[in-house]
Amino acid sequence: METTSPALNTSRREFLKTTTKATVGLSTLSGVTLPHVFAAEDNTVRIALVGCGGRGTGAASNSLSVKQPTKLVAMADVFENRLEGSFQALSAKHPDRFSVSADAKFVGFDAYKEALAMLRPNDIAVFATPPAFRWVHFKAAIEKGVNVFMEKPICVDGPTGKRMLELGQQATAKNMKVAVGLMCRHCPSRGELAKKIQAGEIGDIILARAYRMQGPVGTCFTKPRDPKTDPSELMWQIKNFHSFLWLSGGSYSDFFIHNIDEACWMKNDFPVEAKANGGRTDRGEHIDQNFDHYSIEYTWKDGSKFFFEGRNAVGTHNEFATYVHGSKGMAIVSTAGHFPSKAMMFKGQEKKAENLIWRAPKVEPNPYQVEWDDLLSAITNDKPYNEIERSAKSSLVTCMGRMAAHTGQIITYDQMLNCPHEFAPNVDKLTLDGPAPLVADKDGKYPIPRPGIIKDREYGETA
Ligand SMILES: NC(=O)c1ccc[n+]([C@@H]2O[C@H](COP(=O)([O-])OP(=O)(O)OC[C@H]3O[C@@H](n4cnc5c(N)ncnc54)[C@H](O)[C@@H]3O)[C@@H](O)[C@H]2O)c1
Repeated sequence: METTSPALNTSRREFLKTTTKATVGLSTLSGVTLPHVFAAEDNTVRIALVGCGGRGTGAASNSLSVKQPTKLVAMADVFENRLEGSFQALSAKHPDRFSVSADAKFVGFDAYKEALAMLRPNDIAVFATPPAFRWVHFKAAIEKGVNVFMEKPICVDGPTGKRMLELGQQATAKNMKVAVGLMCRHCPSRGELAKKIQAGEIGDIILARAYRMQGPVGTCFTKPRDPKTDPSELMWQIKNFHSFLWLSGGSYSDFFIHNIDEACWMKNDFPVEAKANGGRTDRGEHIDQNFDHYSIEYTWKDGSKFFFEGRNAVGTHNEFATYVHGSKGMAIVSTAGHFPSKAMMFKGQEKKAENLIWRAPKVEPNPYQVEWDDLLSAITNDKPYNEIERSAKSSLVTCMGRMAAHTGQIITYDQMLNCPHEFAPNVDKLTLDGPAPLVADKDGKYPIPRPGIIKDREYGETA
């Protein structure tokens, strides 16, 4: 058809000019349908952000920094002030790609539905709320058939892990592209290291160890909610989501998953069992549900071990690192946070300059951007892309270590996957003025794990 051919051969800017003119002309003819090519050529990927906090704003910014045309069209949050802060930051940073109109800002627990309604099949929904809401939002995205970027962890307990695995399969059946914010998996240096390790360059992996030892993180507070400043218990818990297991899986799941996932990636397997210690040595009057130290022995199915040490305490040794030991050598996966990886490989078990056999380049791309470049590439080239299965397993393995510490029992992967304790079964039915899934006692303190006393669940009444 004559009207379509020039547009097919023009640059994007010329195309937009051509399309606009053509659209004006054609739309004046009643009953004329726009030729299909115009819709097909509008290849801008539209983004809707659900959860406009720190990471959501960062992820949206990454989504607007890819080379393919993208634009942010909708924003949703349960707090208007969070949405507004993010709106201001993103509109200032990405004026060319920011396209959120006043009526595309949605507030409330159902806001995600309205944001999703603004997307078309090739577009992307970004889910960066606390993890409790991940399955709810993902289920709606699958019904709508849009691509998804979601933040880690993607579940907080056994039932939500199992649900995410099932939803992941549904997303694959619909050819949706689904990314999960375990961004280090997209770090090229760590990718090269994983290939070398799996090719046997340091022999058989016999041990991994990882450390996330740092000062208090997230929300460690000592005072109960003040009804004058925070009238809603539910909304106060959401604001302080790292403190509550139903919202985040606690500090363990929310912070430690990255190092646990790195070790699983290098081993190319997920542990089958966890045995652990943990406690609240320095918790004082803190009213949250977290332990302040965790020490986990994970076992892989070939019997090899992965030790994980997590601590949130002042005045103690700090370390943020992942190491893998093989029968012939050892590897550093991370030594100083998420990037640069400073990944290295050595002969023998010591980090000695003379034993160095490989090291990552000193300058590495930001994995938070690379994960978006990879997602957009998969969408543009229609390549299969679904990170749910491995991310759900990493999230479940993380829960398994946490549950082993919280109950004082050995917990297997199958026990974790089939554990019936769902922390917040009605998370899809919450309302702004409704009750919270977790209730404080008369002193304003929340139920904490009691290893050896409560054994079949992490807190609350034994079933
Ligand atoms: N990949 C990473 O390195 C990384 C880094 C930071 C955070 N994260 C993850 O991102 C997620 C968010 O963390 P954050 O630090 O941005 O927290 P945040 O508190 O800054 O942001 C969360 C936002 O979600 C909103 N929200 C809560 N419940 C909602 C709901 N039901 N519907 C819509 N909005 C809702 C909150 O109001 C808030 O604005 C977490 O899962 C966290 O683990 C990942």
